[in-house]
Amino acid sequence: MVKLLISHSFGILLLLLLLPVFLPSSVQIVYEDEDYGAQLLSSAKQDTDWLISIRRKLHENPELCFQEHNTSALIRNQLHKLGISYTYPLAHTGFVAQIGTGSPPIVALRADMDALPLQELVEWEHKSKRDGVMHGCGHDAHTTMLLGAAKLLNQRKDHLKGTVRLIFQPAEEGGAGASYMIKEGALGGAEAIFGMHIDTSLPTGSIATLSGPMLAATCFFAARIEGKGGHAAEPHNSVDPVLAASSTVLALQQLISRELDPLQSQVLSVTYVRGGEAFNVISPYVELGGTLRSLTTQGLQHLQQRVKEVIEGQAAVHRCKGSVDMKEHEFPAYPATINDETLNSFVNEVGSLLLGAERVKESKKVMAGEDFAFYQQKIPGVMFGIGIRNEGIGAIHSPHSPYFFLDEDALPIGAALHTALAELYLNQHQTPITV
Ligand SMILES: *[C@@H]1O[C@H](CO)[C@@H](O)[C@H](O)[C@H]1NC(C)=O
Repeated sequence: MVKLLISHSFGILLLLLLLPVFLPSSVQIVYEDEDYGAQLLSSAKQDTDWLISIRRKLHENPELCFQEHNTSALIRNQLHKLGISYTYPLAHTGFVAQIGTGSPPIVALRADMDALPLQELVEWEHKSKRDGVMHGCGHDAHTTMLLGAAKLLNQRKDHLKGTVRLIFQPAEEGGAGASYMIKEGALGGAEAIFGMHIDTSLPTGSIATLSGPMLAATCFFAARIEGKGGHAAEPHNSVDPVLAASSTVLALQQLISRELDPLQSQVLSVTYVRGGEAFNVISPYVELGGTLRSLTTQGLQHLQQRVKEVIEGQAAVHRCKGSVDMKEHEFPAYPATINDETLNSFVNEVGSLLLGAERVKESKKVMAGEDFAFYQQKIPGVMFGIGIRNEGIGAIHSPHSPYFFLDEDALPIGAALHTALAELYLNQHQTPITV
């Protein structure tokens, strides 16, 4: 009996040893052990003070699109101290750190470094020291979380089954920094990418994600309607661009209400109209402009075409000349942010593992834009929301508000999530050994 038991368990042992050879390990998440999530979170939390101090330095010294020189230097200096190698510069101030075997599979994690042209109105010790510039969209937290992940991944690098590329990019706010990072090789053979954005509607300790379109394709437009100026008492001797512009603004709104499938989502906002100065002078021209948004990239392209036609047409009806500039040079159009279905399930699993299934929500779609979409045009990726809401400390205001404030307890959570996504992705995507 004893003998039988031994030989029986020996057989099982043999089977267990052989199993990984026959089964591709991409069948399910491969945990290092049962406490994987708890242990990783606890490692990350040991770095909380360091993470908070970095984030506060970034918050006090915000820098705008493509001017993130000090931000970039501060983070690179930390990487240097940790002994992590990186490539710099990409897209002016950006850089990519690399950790792991140097071989495939390769997975990318991304953070953005730029701040907003916004005056901070939160009175606290670490308020922005630069007038009119503020980390009002949480990019200071994104950058800090990714630095935190760099430290954790580096501590665990001997167990990494592939390579992690940590992308620190400039100019998310309108500058399409991601597109320049890609052109300069930031993805470097990565096959999947993950990014997080702080979410003020979610309590700290939770995340929200969604498969498919999550954020809009966006662009700006600027139009000029030329008429002929003159005395306001003699309209017949002038060509009035104010009237033409008024008709144009109304006609533009009909594109959404009359031409778009009601089940689709688009936004057309005219955000400024400028023309004329005097009570009794007909202005020679009017300028107007705004933003277009669509949950599909194709939808945005079609809308751009129709906006151009309507502005030119409406100007012509009023004997004016209309011209439209999509501002692609300064503000390249962003594609729609579309999350990969398989990777989204993976984010759900990893989020549940670290935070508990009840803290992984379904994200809402928002018509804001995100240049993470440029990476997703190249490789599958997921952008998801990470909670920073904490009513007790006033972390309740939406991003881009001058009162925006975030719960720093989210920093180690973000670092741990990045780390787990990369580690477990690599574990899952080992090329099966064929016998
Ligand atoms: C960047 O750092 C330098 C040196 O510390 C400092 O003089 C400069 O004001 C900083 N720039 C910004 C934009 O904060």
